[in-house]
Amino acid sequence: MTAAGPRLIGCRVHALDEVDSTQTYLARLAADGAPEGTVVIARHQTAGRGRRGRSWWDAPGQSLLLSVLLRPGRPAADAPQLSLVAGLAVSEALERAAGVGAQLRWPNDVLVGGRKIAGILPEAASRADGTLLHVILGIGINVRQAAFPQSVGQPATSLRLATGRDHDPALLREMLLERLDDRYREWLAGGFGPLRPLWRSRWAIADRAFTMPDGRAGVAEDVDQDGALLARAPDGRLVRVLSWDPEEESHATRH
Ligand code: BTN
Repeated sequence: MTAAGPRLIGCRVHALDEVDSTQTYLARLAADGAPEGTVVIARHQTAGRGRRGRSWWDAPGQSLLLSVLLRPGRPAADAPQLSLVAGLAVSEALERAAGVGAQLRWPNDVLVGGRKIAGILPEAASRADGTLLHVILGIGINVRQAAFPQSVGQPATSLRLATGRDHDPALLREMLLERLDDRYREWLAGGFGPLRPLWRSRWAIADRAFTMPDGRAGVAEDVDQDGALLARAPDGRLVRVLSWDPEEESHATRH
């Protein structure tokens, strides 16, 4: 579905050559009253941030690095759903711009061939009444890398490695902003529920065992209407999991 009317996401685009982090730069614009849909893009970040305090590596000009300002005015508890919405948009953009089949790893990674090609970082600010002031949605996509430094620490891939040919980050960027615009509007209108079947059809870890936040082994069975992971615990009960970090899990498994 294509949304009617002018685009919300990308209504203003700040394109930078180098920045510490597009997240930090956009947070300053947000504090100064930037409108919803403002995007900051950089060719290179000197202090790119990943989830859980990790850094996000890039080599200049090789990645699509951007942050989007959202002001949905929803309860703060809804913010994690935006990672799922963004993951869906990223996977669709990869397919449409480069013909690549991408899978989603709950809550916010995009994989190609089991390797991470994109990461999503939602950073939310809330009001005293518990509603969202804004969400800064950071997206990093590996586009032109031929190899990754060891510091990346988990199996990674790029569009180039996945397809054996070079890709234009500008084309991917346009497709991504379009897909994000459509999916975000759908989320605003109806929440995660209507997007859930699409998200689940790309889900990479259905029926897989993983370590739940309480330390027990669980089997990922479903993702519910609110975007929470539903996992089967060893005692047979279905547990609602609200956060999980696949990279910590892979370190735990490796050592
Ligand atoms: C992760 O998988 O850990 C999330 C990575 C998010 C990286 C993007 S790149 C653009 C934006 N700016 C940042 O500093 N981080 C996000």
